[in-house]
Parts: sequence; C-alpha cells; structure tokens
Amino acid sequence: MSDNATIEVGGKSYELPVFTGTENEQAIDISKFRGASDGVITIDPGYKNTGSCLSEITFLDGEKGILRYRGYSIEDLAENADFLEVAYLLIFGELPDTETLDKFYTDIKKESIVDDDIKKILDAFPKSAHPMGVLSSLTSALTAFSPSSVNVDSDEEMYKSIVRILGKFPVLVAWTMRKKQGLPLDYGDNKLGYVENVLKMMFNKPNEEYENNPIVVEALDKLLILHADHEQNCSTSTVRIVGSSHAGLFASLSAGISALWGPLHGGANQAVLEMLNGIQEDGGDTNKYMAKAKDKNDPFRLMGFGHRVYKNFDPRAKIIKKAADEVLGDLGIEDPILDIAEGLEKEALADPYFVDRKLYPNVDFYSGIIYRAMGIPTEMFTVMFALGRLPGWIAQWREMRLNKEPIGRPRQIYTGENLRSFVPLDKR
Ligand code: CMC
Repeated sequence: MSDNATIEVGGKSYELPVFTGTENEQAIDISKFRGASDGVITIDPGYKNTGSCLSEITFLDGEKGILRYRGYSIEDLAENADFLEVAYLLIFGELPDTETLDKFYTDIKKESIVDDDIKKILDAFPKSAHPMGVLSSLTSALTAFSPSSVNVDSDEEMYKSIVRILGKFPVLVAWTMRKKQGLPLDYGDNKLGYVENVLKMMFNKPNEEYENNPIVVEALDKLLILHADHEQNCSTSTVRIVGSSHAGLFASLSAGISALWGPLHGGANQAVLEMLNGIQEDGGDTNKYMAKAKDKNDPFRLMGFGHRVYKNFDPRAKIIKKAADEVLGDLGIEDPILDIAEGLEKEALADPYFVDRKLYPNVDFYSGIIYRAMGIPTEMFTVMFALGRLPGWIAQWREMRLNKEPIGRPRQIYTGENLRSFVPLDKR
C-alpha cells in the first residue's frame, strides 16, 4: 500500500488506502468504506472502473496494447511456446521444464476418456442445438461423474482436477461438432500432441485415414494461445464469482462457457463471420454497413470492433491478422470474405466515428476467417475460443480459491417503489 485517497460524502471526510500493483496501476481500496461511512457504497454498472481482485496471472494495458501472461509478452509466447506450455504457465505460474511438461501431458492423456454415459446426455440434444449450449451442459454434467468436490488445500487434488478437465474438455469440444455433423463419437489418438489430437477428434472420418496438416496445427495452437487468458473479462469474472461460492471447478467452468457464448464476448467470432457473409451476399458494399454501424437508430454494430479495455489496438488482432494471411496463403485459399474484412478495417481506421471512440479490430475480427479456412463450422468458433480460454479460467479459479477470496456479492442502490400497501385483485 502507498498513499491515501480522501473521499468526502455528506460533509464527512474519509481516508482510503491506495493500492499500487507491480506495473504501477493504482486502485483505491473501498472494501471497508461502507462500514466506515455508515452505508455509502460506490456504483459502477458493467464494472468499467472496478477491480474485483488482485491477480498475478495476466497483465493488460489497454492504452499501450500490452498483453502478458505471467510476465511474458503475448508476442513472445505466440512465437515461441506451444499451447500446453502456456496452459501450464498460466495455471502454475512458471514455464515448465521438459520433464514437467511431459508429465503434465501424460497426466492429461490419462484423463482423456469421458464416461460413456455422457454420450446419452449428448444424444438427448437435437442436432440443431448450439454447440456452446451443449458444451456448457456437458461440462456441468462432468460434475456428476466426479462428484466429490476438490480439496483446494491439497496440491495433489487440485492438480488432479486440473489435468482431468484438460483431458476431457477437448473430447467434449470435438463431440459437440461430431454430434451436429452426425459423425460417430471419437477419442482421437493419444500418440498425438494436444492440438493435433483435438483436430483429429474433430475431423476424423470412420472410412478415411486422417492426416494432420502441420500448417493448420500450428495456426490453431497459436489461436489457442492468443485466447488463453484475458484477465477479468465477462466469462472469467463469471468463473471466479461462481467459484467464490465454492461451487466446483466444472460447474464454474460451465457458467463461464455460458458467459462466453454471448455475441458481445466470445460469440463475436461467429457474429463477425455471419456479418461478413451477410455483407458479401448483399453485394459487398462495405460503405452501407459502415453507415449502419454509425447510425444510432440502427442496432447494427460492426462485430469484431471495439473492446472494453483496448483503446489503442488489440495486440492479439495484430498477430491473428498476420496468421490469417499466412494460413490462407499456405493453404492456397482465396477467400473473398478476407477482402471484405480488410476493406472494413481500412474504412473504419480512417473514419472519425471509429477513431474518436477508439474502436479497433479485436481478437475476433480475423479469427473466424482462419477457423473457416481450417474447415471449422461457424457455430463452432466460440467453442474453439472456449477451448483456448480453458487454461485461463482454470488459473483464475485456482488463484481465487488459493487466495481464499470471499464470496462475490455486489451491492446495489435500490431505485424502485417505496413501501406501499397490497391492493386486492378486485380493487386493481
Ligand atoms: N460498432 C459500432 N459502434 C460501436 C462498436 C461497434 N462494434 N463498439 C462500440 N461502439 C460505440 C458505441 O455505440 C458507443 O458509442 P457512443 O459513445 O456514441 O454511445 C461507444 O462506441 C462506446 O461503446 P460501449 O458499448 O460503451 O463500449 P463497451 O466498452 O461497453 O463495449 C464491446 C465494448 C466490445 C462490447 C463493444 O465495442 C462491442 O459491442 N463490440 C462488438 C462486439 C465484439 O466484437 N465483441 C468482442 C470483444 S473482444 C473478445 C471478447 O472479449 O470476447
């Protein structure tokens, strides 16, 4: 702690401690303010200016476009690490050495079978069900198959439940897609790497030999790293707040998946591609859609643009844009949707509406184009985001439990009716 802040309310003055983080971010600690001030609270809908925790996992500077996991820049990790190394780093705080990483993956593989009864639950969904709803339900259902709650004071038990979900989750991801496509459920091949196996589990056909394309494997690995954590976003805050009631890891993750589903959050990658397709089908007139996005009477928003925290550029978008160019080039795909995306980006970056509001392409603007080039159906895009975000959610849940954070329970200011008497039905 350093410095103090003074707040004056109703003629009384209160000294509040100011907390400074390792990157010199400052926060006024209001945790004891309500008690000291006899009931005064702070209000901040959408938590635009509220820190919910102290965290050692991810550092993000929206003004400078900086994103770091455990002190390593996202650019460095995307270039040099693989997804499992990053998962270990996020969850346990340090990069693993070879032996630790091997053990980590071996332990994950041992957990990569899901109970056969899960198939019955999957069977009960219609093919039309959105894969995010199915994934959230199946993740929650896993709890029923490992009912004892994790003893968070035991490193061993904590580790076990972490490798368990990292092993089973990719199977569920693949099954949500196979269900939709009417393909038999598959367990992939544990001789393969984590990401290779995900792809095989998704795309393997019963009558064909599946061969992984290294370009696709590398691109997916990179995409998963870029999505792996993003500090206290909507789904991560959901995971932490659900977990703060001591609900189990799987139940907390299931809630996080539901939060991610929304089009203002992870669902934006699906929404971007649907928007780009719509523009193409409508003749490709990007100007028309720019005008719609700026029209306050039109609910249309340019999906994949803007970010609650990044007000300069989203460093992940830069890496993804480059990756999209490379993947499409390497796979020899010419996608007219990419031209529309580039056109929109160019126009938006030169348009005062977007410039003044600091609206830049975000991580979701180009990721859908890569997923599409990989043959992943549009409805699966947000599921891929969930697969990438899984280590971040786990890391944040673990940190919250180890820090023994109190149950999340915000206050409110009531603005409804004052006390009034009940009026019987025949008198209303
Ligand atoms: N298109 C047009 N106008 C926009 C857009 C957009 N995409 N985003 C923000 N604005 C305008 C908004 O209308 C408002 O204008 P005004 O000040 O005149 O009222 C101003 O910019 C500020 O917007 P806001 O909604 O108050 O900003 P926010 O921080 O609450 O919302 C956001 C951030 C990401 C929800 C929003 O920018 C948005 O809806 N973007 C499109 C959806 C999207 O791409 N989401 C993915 C986010 S990145 C991945 C993730 O986090 O999961």
